[in-house]
Amino acid sequence: MTEKNNILAPKNNILAIASGKGGVGKTWLAVTLSHLFARSGRHVLLFDGDIGLANVDVQLGLTPQRDLSSVLSGRNTLKEVITHYEEGGFDIIAGRSGSATLATMPVEQLEAICADLAQLQKNYDFVMIDLGAGVEQHVQYLASLAGRCIVVITDEPTSLTDAYAFIKISTASKNPPDIGIVVNQAATQKEGEATYHAINKACVNFLNISPPLLGIIRRDNKVKDSIRAQKSLLIRAPHSTAATDAAVLSIKLMQK
Ligand SMILES: Nc1ncnc2c1ncn2[C@@H]1O[C@H](COP(=O)(O)OP(=O)(O)OP(=O)(O)O)[C@@H](O)[C@H]1O
Ligand SMILES: [Mg+2]
Repeated sequence: MTEKNNILAPKNNILAIASGKGGVGKTWLAVTLSHLFARSGRHVLLFDGDIGLANVDVQLGLTPQRDLSSVLSGRNTLKEVITHYEEGGFDIIAGRSGSATLATMPVEQLEAICADLAQLQKNYDFVMIDLGAGVEQHVQYLASLAGRCIVVITDEPTSLTDAYAFIKISTASKNPPDIGIVVNQAATQKEGEATYHAINKACVNFLNISPPLLGIIRRDNKVKDSIRAQKSLLIRAPHSTAATDAAVLSIKLMQK
């Protein structure tokens, strides 16, 4: 795969949400941050980068008329499959379960999508990419479009090792994004800090970098409840613990 270095300047308004390990809360965080940014008056596009698995629209209970599958089959451009999510006030490019996955997509197609996304970001204050799990080349390629990358971790050892692997590969790329850490599903603020220190220690010792702690989001059953109900947490439980923690994080990200 060719490097994408010419597509974008290193710093831009694309924010990728990564983790290495699956199931830690990337999609939920991408949806919730998009909603929070939109509520603060920002123009936001959320791109479902977990291509082939359609996470974003399922969490929000949407059935977009068009999605990435028609881009992959050549029927539509990326711009034509943007869906406006009225309740949240932001735009979405949805995936499609069962379509070609990121891993099986021909490299040329992935490169074309990334180039289109790089153009589209000029129309937005923020483009959020919800990445799939894993550290393989296709995920890294999509991640490398971003000026900033949030790596979501939990206190599970496999989350820490997989996130570390993601950070290691990502920082070794030619054009590494600014990486920051979000601890999700923390039992308490203090436990969240301890989880951050564990990954930071590995990064300092072995990679000679210290990715900053961007935020801690506490474990909250309202998250599961809202995903089951296919509603944004900000609509279903706007004053919940996780919504409050995510709001603090969103303010920090908007200030940066
Ligand atoms: N702060 C939280 N408190 C409690 N549960 C949470 C929290 N964040 C996420 N979860 C739980 O984690 C599950 C997985 O979330 P999500 O699908 O967003 O993860 P993901 O990292 O995108 O997964 P995948 O790698 O499969 O795409 C959710 O269904 C929810 O139950
Ligand atoms: Mg996901």
